[in-house]
Parts: sequence; C-alpha cells; structure tokens
Amino acid sequence: MILKMIEANLLNLIVVLIFTLLITFKLFTNKKRSSNLPPSPPSIPILGHLPLLKQPLQETLRNFSRKFGPVMLLRFGVRRTLVISSPSLVEECFTKTNDIVFANRPLLPSAKHITYNFTSMGAAPYGHLWRSLRRVAASELFSTTRLVATTHAREHEVKLMCAHIYKESSQKVELKSRFCDLLNNITTMAMMGKRYYGDVIDARDVKSAPRFRDIMREMFKVMHAPYLGNFLPLLAWIDFGGNEKRTIALMKRVDVFFDEVIDERRRIGSCKSGIMVDKLLALQQEEPELYTDQIIRGLILVNFLQLPFYIYFVNENPWIKRYNVPVFFLNIFCCFKF
Ligand SMILES: *[C@@H]1O[C@H](CO)[C@@H](O)[C@H](O)[C@H]1NC(C)=O
Ligand SMILES: *[C@@H]1O[C@H](CO)[C@@H](O)[C@H](O)[C@H]1NC(C)=O
Ligand SMILES: *[C@@H]1O[C@H](CO)[C@@H](O)[C@H](O)[C@H]1NC(C)=O
Repeated sequence: MILKMIEANLLNLIVVLIFTLLITFKLFTNKKRSSNLPPSPPSIPILGHLPLLKQPLQETLRNFSRKFGPVMLLRFGVRRTLVISSPSLVEECFTKTNDIVFANRPLLPSAKHITYNFTSMGAAPYGHLWRSLRRVAASELFSTTRLVATTHAREHEVKLMCAHIYKESSQKVELKSRFCDLLNNITTMAMMGKRYYGDVIDARDVKSAPRFRDIMREMFKVMHAPYLGNFLPLLAWIDFGGNEKRTIALMKRVDVFFDEVIDERRRIGSCKSGIMVDKLLALQQEEPELYTDQIIRGLILVNFLQLPFYIYFVNENPWIKRYNVPVFFLNIFCCFKF
C-alpha cells in the first residue's frame, strides 16, 4: 500500500528530476559542515521525504518552501536534494562562482544505460569529456551555422506539410498531429537525412520507420517509468521492477539502429549535406579518439530526447498533461550524494 503510494509519487518525481536540473556534488563528507545544512521538513527513516510528496508536486513543494524558506533540503531515499525556489538564488547557483560546483549531475542508476555509462551530453561528469561535448554542442550542433545549414530542410518539410494539408482541405484536417509529425520529420531529416513519421515514407525506410517509432515509444516509457532504485540502492541492486533489464534490451536495439544509420551515412553521406551525423563523422576523422561511434550515438539520442518527442509523448500520455512543466524549472533540484 505504502509502496504503491510511493510509486505514484515517484512518477511525478521522475518527471521533475528529468525536466529540472539535477546536480550532484560531494560536499557533506565532513561532519562539521553537516550542521550547516539548510532547513528540512521532518522525515522518516530510509525513505526520507518520499512519502510526503503529494500531488500536485509543485504545490507540495510550494507549501514546503513557504514553511522552510527558499532553500531547503529534502531527502529522497539516500539522495539529498536541495530545492531552491528563488530566482536570485538559482542565478547564484549557476553563475560564475558556483556553476562548476553545480556542473555535475547525479549518476542515477536509471540513467546509466541510456547515457552510455554517463558519457553522453547532459550526463557526463565535469571534466575533459564534458568540456569537449560542450564545445561540439556550442560550435557545431546548436550553432547559428547549423541553423542556417538546416534551413533548406526545414523549408522543405513545411512546404511538404502545407501541400499535404492543401490536398485534404475539402474536409476537416486535424492539425495537432501534423505539427508533431512536422517537428519529428525536421529533426530526423536534420540529423540523419530520413523521415520516419507520417504516411508516405521513402521506400528505403519503410522497414526502419516503424522500428524507429517503436524504439522511441519504448524509450519514453523506460525513461518515465518509476524507478525506486535511484533512491534506494538495494532496489537498484536487485533490479526491482526489471527496469534495468528492459533498458539494456532497449539500448541494444537503439545501438543496432543507430549503427545502421551511421554506416549508411559513412557510405553515402557528405559533410556538405548539413546532416548532423555527416558532420559528426567528419569530426570523427579528425579526432577519432574523441568522436567514437558511441559518442555519436549518444549525441543522436540526446537530440531525440528533446522537444519533438516530448510533445509526442504528451499526446500519448494524458497524465503528463496535468503537470505544469515551467513550474518545475523554477524548482531547481540539486542532489547531494552521501
Ligand atoms: C498546500 O497548502 C494548502 C493550504 O494549507 C492546502 O490546502 C493544500 O492541500 C496543500 N497542498 C498540498 C499538495 O499539500
Ligand atoms: C559501462 O561500464 C561498465 C564497467 O565500467 C562496462 O562493463 C559496460 O560495458 C559499460 N557499458 C557501456 C554501455 O559502455
Ligand atoms: C513527414 O514525412 C512523411 C514522409 O515523407 C510524410 O508523409 C508526412 O506528410 C510528413 N509529415 C509532415 C507533417 O510534414
């Protein structure tokens, strides 16, 4: 019964943890500093504050912070989590003096396989790899140059969509799913030169399109499944709920799929195409030890786990609609590890 309740609350928690910034650092190794901890509501042994997290989560946190102030410490299982609900304090955390302290994310067991052992962007601990990924993201992947390079692809997709809608305009057309398809088409085109969404798909991709969609659907299920092992290590150790097994199987499929794409682009791609995988393969030739296939797969995956599929996921899962996502961004979570 109590476990059921925790699981239901964890669903919220996982969403919050994924969509807000998660930062870990080892600070409380020394006892003296522990006395200096921020205020914290009363908690129960082992589970900490987990059972107190009632829906809606943002309201619970607001209620807590009214009582305990803009900086408070919660404990989710073994994870200490700093909850900050003041914009100026958030700024303080992420500007010059403190941002390196907060640059690390917790190495959550649930993220281990999806982030290729914490080597993908957003999960890599602060260090050489982190800096390299940041550099490639800023200069290559999310730069103005790339935006310009993909202009053509975007225009083309929008034209395709308009033509499609025009053809059907004698009757009512449902636009929401079209916009989702459009975003998905633009993303897959810009990254891999392929379209996997919609009704007419390139003959070469007829087989891979449903596979891709299936993989992405499963990915979101896995990512948003409650994962108590993040907070109670014993459960992670025994793979409670079978999440780890499921994730490993999924990542095998992801790797096979992306490897096929990468191999194909190796054969037919050109670095002038504006396609992201082509660009990464060009970088691989310059710096093979940094841009391994695994890093490239991680970068593709990170791009897919962003907005377009999030929207797609919202459409498929009514429960996520209940949450007011921007509120989560105000509640910056910082996890402390024991
Ligand atoms: C927050 O506090 C208000 C007022 O005390 C209460 O009515 C509401 O139920 C609380 N919400 C949660 C989620 O605890
Ligand atoms: C992650 O690291 C472990 C050991 O460090 C290794 O056994 C495993 O194969 C790695 N997994 C991936 C996906 O790289
Ligand atoms: C997405 O691409 C597919 C395949 O070319 C196409 O059939 C579909 O109309 C596109 N959807 C949108 C909204 O552009």
